Amino acid sequence: MEIIKSKEALRQKVEACKQVKKTIGLVPTMGALHEGHASLVRRSVADNDVTFVSVFVNPTQFNNKEDLEKYPRDLDRDAKLLESLGVDYVFAPSAETMYTPEEMQSTFNFDFGGLDQVMEGIYRPGHFNGVVQIVSKLFRLVEPDRGYFGEKDYQQLAIIHRMVEVMSIPVQIVDCEIVREPSGLALSSRNERLSAAEKQTAVNISHILFESRQLRESQTVGQVESWVIEQVNRIDGLRVEYFEIVDQTTLQPAVDFSHAIGCITVYCGPVRLIDNIKY
Ligand code: PAF
Repeated sequence: MEIIKSKEALRQKVEACKQVKKTIGLVPTMGALHEGHASLVRRSVADNDVTFVSVFVNPTQFNNKEDLEKYPRDLDRDAKLLESLGVDYVFAPSAETMYTPEEMQSTFNFDFGGLDQVMEGIYRPGHFNGVVQIVSKLFRLVEPDRGYFGEKDYQQLAIIHRMVEVMSIPVQIVDCEIVREPSGLALSSRNERLSAAEKQTAVNISHILFESRQLRESQTVGQVESWVIEQVNRIDGLRVEYFEIVDQTTLQPAVDFSHAIGCITVYCGPVRLIDNIKY
C-alpha cells in the first residue's frame, strides 16, 4: 500500500490504472476509521481491481471550528488498518493541496434541489456545500468506477446521488448499510469522544428507533415522530435536535411509512450523534 500526498502523484497512479483498464473503487473518508469504514473498504476491494481511500478532514464542511479542531486524527493507525484490508492507495493531502485560499472560504455553489433545506442542512448551514465541494474534487481526481458511502449519513448519501446526476459524473454510488456495535449503537468516529457512561446512554437511541418500527401499523407518521422525540428526551443525558420521518429519495416529510426513513440527531452530553431507521 502506498500513501500519496500530492495531486500529481495521485493522477500518475490513476492514469496507470486507466491505461491497463483496471477498475477503481474510491472510499472517501475523514480518517478516525472504524469498522463502519472497514465495511465500505471491504466492499470496494471485493468489487474493484484497485481501491483508493482518501483520508482528509475536510475543513470546508465544518461549520463549527471547535468540532474541526477536535476531530480525531491518526494517519498511522488508519494506514495500518487500511493496509490490512488490502487497500492499494491512501490519498492523504493537506488542506492547501486540495484548496486555493478562495475555495477555503467555501463559496462553492450547488443546486441541491431542496435536499439541503431539511434536517442537517438546517442545523449545519454550509456543511453540504463543503461535502459536495470535496467529493466532486475527489471524483475528478480519482475518476473511480465506484464510490462507497455509508447510510448512516443518509442525507449526505442522498445529496451525493443528486450530485453525480446533476454534474454528470460517471461513477456508480454504492450505498452501504449502517454498521452497529452489538449494543445497537451506530458506529461513528464521534463515539471516541463519549465517556463509557455516555456510550451506555447513547445505546438507547438505536433501541428507541428499532421500537418505533413496531408502531407504524397503529400510528401516524406525526405520532411516531413525537413518540421517538419524547422517549429519547426522557433519558438523562440525551437531547434530540431533530427527528424527522421523510421520503428516502426526496427527504421531504413522509405522508406514510412506505419508502420512509426516520433520521435523528441527538446530543449525548457534548457529542452530536446521528442515526436513522428505514420503515
Ligand atoms: O462522510 C464523511 O466522512 C465525509 O463527509 C466525506 C464523504 C469523506 C467528505 O469529506
